[in-house]
Amino acid sequence: MCGIVGYIGSRPAREIILNGLKRLEYRGYDSAGMAVTDGDTRVFKCKGRVSDLEEMVMKSGFNGTTGMGHTRWATHGEPNELNAHPQVSYKGNFVVVHNGIIENYARLKKHLQGRGIEFASQTDTEVLANLIEHLYIEGDLTAEQAITLALNRVEGAYGLVIICIRESDKLFAAKKGSPLVIGVGDGENFIASDATPIVEHTQRVIYLNDDDLAIIKKDELLLKTIRVEKIQPVIKEIDLKIGEIDKEGFPHFMLKEIFEQPRAIHDTFRGRVLPDHSGVMLGGLHGVMDTISNAERIIIVGCGTSWHAGLIGEYFFEEYTRIPVEVEYASEFRYRNPVIKKGDIIIAVSQSGETADTLAAVKLAKTKGAMVVGICNVVGSSIPRETDAGVYTHAGPEIGVASTKAFTTQVTVLAMMAFEIGHLKGIISDTFYRELITELVSVPGKIEKALKINEQALELAKIFQNSHNALYLGRGYLFPVALEGALKLKEISYIHAEGYPAAEMKHGPIALIDENMPVVVVATRDDTYDKIINNIQEIKARKGKVIAIVTEGDEIIQKMADYVLEVPGTMAVFSGLLAVIPLQLLSYHIAVLRGCNVDQPRNLAKSVTVE
Ligand code: G6P
Repeated sequence: MCGIVGYIGSRPAREIILNGLKRLEYRGYDSAGMAVTDGDTRVFKCKGRVSDLEEMVMKSGFNGTTGMGHTRWATHGEPNELNAHPQVSYKGNFVVVHNGIIENYARLKKHLQGRGIEFASQTDTEVLANLIEHLYIEGDLTAEQAITLALNRVEGAYGLVIICIRESDKLFAAKKGSPLVIGVGDGENFIASDATPIVEHTQRVIYLNDDDLAIIKKDELLLKTIRVEKIQPVIKEIDLKIGEIDKEGFPHFMLKEIFEQPRAIHDTFRGRVLPDHSGVMLGGLHGVMDTISNAERIIIVGCGTSWHAGLIGEYFFEEYTRIPVEVEYASEFRYRNPVIKKGDIIIAVSQSGETADTLAAVKLAKTKGAMVVGICNVVGSSIPRETDAGVYTHAGPEIGVASTKAFTTQVTVLAMMAFEIGHLKGIISDTFYRELITELVSVPGKIEKALKINEQALELAKIFQNSHNALYLGRGYLFPVALEGALKLKEISYIHAEGYPAAEMKHGPIALIDENMPVVVVATRDDTYDKIINNIQEIKARKGKVIAIVTEGDEIIQKMADYVLEVPGTMAVFSGLLAVIPLQLLSYHIAVLRGCNVDQPRNLAKSVTVE
């Protein structure tokens, strides 16, 4: 899950690549590097971030009109200069940037070492670079032939850009498992891990497919497969504006994305909610709605925050469609030999559409004959291209590593799906359907109001910034919200936090409670409200510090809790969409006060394209 950018044209490549890498830094940021060529090829690499690389490259004064860059999230070999990309082959003819993992690298390395080839790094990528070089020299091949042959010998996943310094009028790009997009310009072309570095230059893109090999010149583009077939590129127009990937005055992407949620949710249901609120129409499920309605079982798979959204989906589907639902971590599901029957529907939830485990779960389910539906944000990403049908969340690019608007828009899609199916099955009446949709339409306005507690969240953050632990509790729809709140806190502030169903507290976590333990109780009004009041009393009896998320005007909890953050009232089914807002803001402010890098927390990456 590294980020790759390549450029070939007539403009200075260095600046285009550095700007592109900054946009891709969410994919990894432990080291960075680039190669630039003006006939003569120079490689720059450093441990650290793109800003460190920028300083190094600018100081050198070197520039060219072709080049490629890489921002790394380490898999093989610690993050240092030697292991950073580009990796250069042993005779220096090939320069390679890579996202993914070459799984048979150890075997290939042994084979090459047996032929006297020495390795400078611990990376799997250098193995590939050396394999290409070896085939190039020994077989007296062209660069294209050597690359093709090498790619037929490697197992694993890759998004690759390669420069052969003897043929530096072209970039080679290849994809298997890890995403790559070509941007088609006038007299210049681009390549990147996703479209965000490209959109400021061109809206015309080609999404590479697995096994594609592209030979990119400044005014020519040849697309083949590694089985040497020629293919006709399909150029698509993308609708992504440059403003969408800037911070727009916010200090961090995460805060911008938290504040964007009213707009993002509105975009999720825009054009899908019927004008008279009598229902929703999810175009991406057109033609498969009956199959989904008749499903014997729904299995929702995802990772991280997307898994939490899936858990809320379970409550929606069971409540409104009466179809049994299981929610699985994609990483466990794919390796468990799960029982999947023909009548099962798999719903894969993923912001990026690239998470390796979720993608593998999708492929597994397909081989077992299940129909797979995707709920993704990134248009054209791998999961939507693998699934039988799907719904995009339309949240816009999410850059902050901690997921916020992706979560609320995924929950919105899951709710709409459950409502449409429930209505189709006759479980939801026309009147109730209209009530649900009318309330859904009011949610963005209510989130707008919920965001007004930002200052209060900051004040609370000041009180709790030095905590070592935190407990998050919720019931029903609000239990997954508690999990999500705890995840947000640990991801970006490095405070240990756990989410629990509130009633489970007495089976273990209650032992942790003392006067130093902040307990965040998600307690907005719903069917479980009375029960959660009891849980708050149990915490107070043990001197725990209660921060309660409550519905506006709640005087009962106000008296019991140490601190409250209020959100507007809504129907229980939408309570998670509102209750999560104070939790996002609280973690954000705590992380900022602790001096953490909010948008790029240590050890994490936005999109995990390795197992
Ligand atoms: C990473 C991110 C999380 C995200 C998870 C799943 O761990 O840091 O924020 O929830 O991947 O990503 P996906 O793109 O599949 O939703």
